[in-house]
Amino acid sequence: MTARIIDGKAVAAELRRAIAARVAALPFKPGLRVVRVGDDPASGVYVRNKDKAAQEVGFDSATVHLAAETTEADLLAVVARLNADPAVDGILVQLPLPRQIRADVVISAVAPEKDVDGFHPLNAGRLASGQKGLVPCTPKGVMHLLRAAGASLPGARAVVLGRSTIVGRPMAQLLLAADCTVTIAHSRTRDLAAECRRAEILVAAVGRPEMVPGDWVAEDATVIDVGINRLPDGRLVGDVDFAGAARRAAAITPVPGGVGPMTIACLLENTLDAALARRGA
Ligand code: GUN
Repeated sequence: MTARIIDGKAVAAELRRAIAARVAALPFKPGLRVVRVGDDPASGVYVRNKDKAAQEVGFDSATVHLAAETTEADLLAVVARLNADPAVDGILVQLPLPRQIRADVVISAVAPEKDVDGFHPLNAGRLASGQKGLVPCTPKGVMHLLRAAGASLPGARAVVLGRSTIVGRPMAQLLLAADCTVTIAHSRTRDLAAECRRAEILVAAVGRPEMVPGDWVAEDATVIDVGINRLPDGRLVGDVDFAGAARRAAAITPVPGGVGPMTIACLLENTLDAALARRGA
């Protein structure tokens, strides 16, 4: 069969419209601060896109840009100031951070109720124990896409390729909470091909260009490609061989235009949720 294309741009645009409408009805503006340390160009693009999207839905949004030489103590002081600022509902420290700063220390310093990345160990623990909390944006966006694609989740065999704390692990938790039977496969998995071929829902989040060939994809699977990899010739590709997989799958996300747009939309959703929760709404 030829797969249906899951249009992440359209799903994200709809979510952003809904968020903007809810914000317009509020008597205050949710506040977001994105912290960027150093001059990594890719981070610059991501941070600008987040800030712009936040402004567009009516948030009070600003970027805090710190020098590449910033010390861990200085960054922790900035985080402490934002934690204490009543106008700030969401704090996002863009990763990666310069080498002199320990990311785990900074992530743990963000107030959990303002942790719109959902990376704080308290929020990770809440997700793992089925409690309400802020959920990492990319896996949350994948769940929106699966629902938009009409995927039937209860009882489905879901395989998550990749075990990162940002995507793979929270992804597995969300699929489990949706009653899937979940396997996390990774670089040490004995037979990756066999694991993938069993998947009714396959989520690839390894960051290796086109490492999943079409013949690892089951007929009628729903394939979500989280990877965004730039090839030497400048092309952007996912972790899945799109053309090969699209010949077998029932539905598949493209790269770009699949998961990517959902990450920012879910950051906006998390910020609105954090703003309402902080005000007891
Ligand atoms: N760098 C790449 N992806 C992300 C993300 O989702 N959040 C943050 N803070 N940094 C990132």
